Amino acid sequence: MKKFPKNFIFSTSTCSYQIEGGRLLGGRTHSNWDKFTIDNYYIPPAGEAKREIASIDVAADYYHRYEQDAVIMKEIGVNGFVYNMDWSRIFPHNENDVNEEGIQFYENAFKALVENGVKPIPILYHWDSPLWLEKLGGSSSPAFVKAFRNLAKVLFERLGKYTDIWYVSDENSSYTTSAYLDDYNPPQKNDEKEFWKAIYYLSISGAVAKEEFDKAKQKGFIAKDALLGIDHDWCPAIPYDKNDKDDLKACDIFNEYNLHLYLDPNILGEFPNCFWEAIKKFKLENIINQAELKQLKENTLDLIGWNYYRPAIIASPKRLKQDIKWHNDPAFFITKDAWIVFPTTEKYTAWKWLIKPEYLSIGGMDLQNRYHKPLMILENGLGYFDVKNNNGIVEDNYRIDYLNDHLKEVQLAIENGVNFIGYSLWTYCDIFSPSGGYRKKYGLVGVNFEDKTLSRYPKASMYWYKDVINKLDTIDSKSIDYQKYIKQAQESFKTKKSLWK
Ligand code: BG6
Repeated sequence: MKKFPKNFIFSTSTCSYQIEGGRLLGGRTHSNWDKFTIDNYYIPPAGEAKREIASIDVAADYYHRYEQDAVIMKEIGVNGFVYNMDWSRIFPHNENDVNEEGIQFYENAFKALVENGVKPIPILYHWDSPLWLEKLGGSSSPAFVKAFRNLAKVLFERLGKYTDIWYVSDENSSYTTSAYLDDYNPPQKNDEKEFWKAIYYLSISGAVAKEEFDKAKQKGFIAKDALLGIDHDWCPAIPYDKNDKDDLKACDIFNEYNLHLYLDPNILGEFPNCFWEAIKKFKLENIINQAELKQLKENTLDLIGWNYYRPAIIASPKRLKQDIKWHNDPAFFITKDAWIVFPTTEKYTAWKWLIKPEYLSIGGMDLQNRYHKPLMILENGLGYFDVKNNNGIVEDNYRIDYLNDHLKEVQLAIENGVNFIGYSLWTYCDIFSPSGGYRKKYGLVGVNFEDKTLSRYPKASMYWYKDVINKLDTIDSKSIDYQKYIKQAQESFKTKKSLWK
């Protein structure tokens, strides 16, 4: 297997409401996620792989620790950090009045990253709208597009000099399905009409951001060759029975609703059929504006960020009548013509996320064949219950295995001709996870949430990643030297006191 190219981006990703804290500091006001976590606070019994909705008031306190975190990233050796800037910190009251202190925070954080050899890779929107915007209608309203234009303009102009890769949004798909089609996440609309409206306005926002991106380039705020992408969490579809024509048809339906619906508008410049059918079905023709469709066509985006955690096993509705053992109830996905199912024969994480690294290279090829754009993995990681050893670090061999297996698939895809320009793993440090709170650990770097000090500590996986980045190569699964990484983490924890505080 060939090594990764020298300019390959090895990065880590995280997200503002999941680590930043500083909720009401520096002129910030509350977002929908602040309200949601306050209103729905719930801590299940310890040790259960369940949803925990804890306070995000302080989270991992990146707000005060960004300098330390940038130095830790240097220690890992990453050359990228994917992060979204919190809208409510930049525009705390309305769409026009910029909060200088908020912008300054991100400017300081970006500077600290650059000084440590890490390229900031910003995402404009990761699910968290300011409450003032929710009151104006949020993502399912034209108010969103208008306010988003100004957010994009201000961020491109103020922070454009620090980077040449940007993304408009993170996972419009899990955002809209869990917050508009369901009430799992804020703003908990649970309304199919609002769901389709949100798809429309989020897509138009992507095009509007591209207009502002081009203007910022012309004005010299952003490098001429900078890229603006969109991030999506497609789960490649696997037919429950690959010889069954109904299951195969269900996969096509799933892909139209899970992939084409979210990427076609901003990459190909047009909505797929399922969108137009829904517009007709819900009598939403009045939201469609021809000038906006033209904008979409003329402002397609440059690259695709892909959050790959798992594929989806898809069954036709007929399976629901059959006596098959599923892990939990099969879940329908937007349409009842295609169902995601969880056969007990498969391998899952504690939170029942299917583990199948091979679909990263298979799906990468599918994405390239359809969209012909550069790709970057923006999220891939393992949420698990980590336990510290007696030396205060985590021996997360299971995470090393998971990440190494997935990175190998990135390499394989590159060998097969897929244009992967980078890999950003989820996450840099432990976070507040929407499906597991602070108990579901993802980080290469641990955070002491439990004793409330929020001090950082290394995990063995951090030193595995460092090794991969140094060698530009993954490690043969049989020869992973777990002890070496455990020792390096322990040594670092013992001797580099200023890092681990
Ligand atoms: C992605 C989100 O959907 O998955 C992240 O962009 C999230 O915000 C990640 O943390 C993992 O999901 P979870 O629920 O396990 O934290």
